[in-house]
Amino acid sequence: MIVIDETGRILAFSRAAEQLFGYTTDEMVGKDVRCLMSGNDRTNHQNYVNKYLDTGKSHIIGVGRVVTARRADGSVFPIDLKIGEARVGDHYLFTAFVRDLSEQRRNELRMQEMQAELVHFSRMSAVGTMASALAHELNQPLTAVANYLEAARDLLDSDNEATREILREALDEAARQAVRAGEIVRKLRGYVSRGEIDARSVALAPLIADAVALSRVSGDVADIPIEQVVDPDVGCVLADPIQVQQVIINLLRNAADALKGRDGPMMSITATRNSEGFAVVSVCDNGPGLTEDIRRTLFKPFMTSKSQGMGLGLSICQTIVEAHGGKIEAAPQNDGNSCFRFTLRLDPASR
Ligand SMILES: Nc1ncnc2c1ncn2[C@@H]1O[C@H](COP(=O)(O)OP(=O)(O)O)[C@@H](O)[C@H]1O
Ligand SMILES: [Mg+2]
Repeated sequence: MIVIDETGRILAFSRAAEQLFGYTTDEMVGKDVRCLMSGNDRTNHQNYVNKYLDTGKSHIIGVGRVVTARRADGSVFPIDLKIGEARVGDHYLFTAFVRDLSEQRRNELRMQEMQAELVHFSRMSAVGTMASALAHELNQPLTAVANYLEAARDLLDSDNEATREILREALDEAARQAVRAGEIVRKLRGYVSRGEIDARSVALAPLIADAVALSRVSGDVADIPIEQVVDPDVGCVLADPIQVQQVIINLLRNAADALKGRDGPMMSITATRNSEGFAVVSVCDNGPGLTEDIRRTLFKPFMTSKSQGMGLGLSICQTIVEAHGGKIEAAPQNDGNSCFRFTLRLDPASR
């Protein structure tokens, strides 16, 4: 609290004011209050006061304003200033109530900075996740293209008509996989930007057979027997077939990774209907199974136990399955096998 007269002379300077401004009361009493001000206020203060005394119109008395003040060391800081007036005989006294806003301002500023950082960070991480997800999903069709083309090159010199037929098939297949890669980019981009899927009624059994065939094209899955147990009555699901195939391929690749170097490796894929209107697809292997630690972070992006792994496969599977209104989980452990199962909504019209 600071009391001044109508000429701006300081009459009282409170203890709190001493602390705030860094002057002592003795130093300040009798001084011009403008030494506590900065900028325009400092220049115009006496004009404001004179105008008020002449016209009775004030912009600050009883209202309060945020202005800048100046400390003894010359530093400036924001204050909330309220002024009250008192009339003593012919004279006016003005009492200034000053509240330091620098802490509050600092907090506001920090909040703004943090918000800006957060927005930036989330944009960056969305871009990063998107890029990694693309790399992960494109790996499979591109490997397939490379394998088909390599096979084709080996067959190129043959004059045998049957061999040329195989050559043509390999090239067709390579072209199909390249188109598929493009499709994956398009879908993933559409999906990331709008969170939309392009679901329609598709027969589940052939979709699974295709996914198994596709997964065979990449080296590591090729040699492991895959038992397919698909309920012939399983019917149609509401799904985007390319995305569901990606889920199955990712699960088969994980199973194949888990089976690397093990004796008697086996994988299986089964599909049945449940009573709640969903198809249930399970992908199992007789590998080492999942430890409790791995289970906990299974579907988190970038969590991998493999030196070459990206830890994105299951997170992508989960995103796709949940976007379809289904669920994906690792079934409870039994004797070292792993089983992942996911659900897809059945097309009610398909029965
Ligand atoms: N069938 C499985 N058997 C054992 N562990 C598995 C299996 N599937 C997934 N996992 C574990 O889950 C982790 C995450 O899988 P995923 O998200 O596909 O990433 P990545 O395959 O790149 O490691 C794997 O690193 C592995 O530890
Ligand atoms: Mg994987």
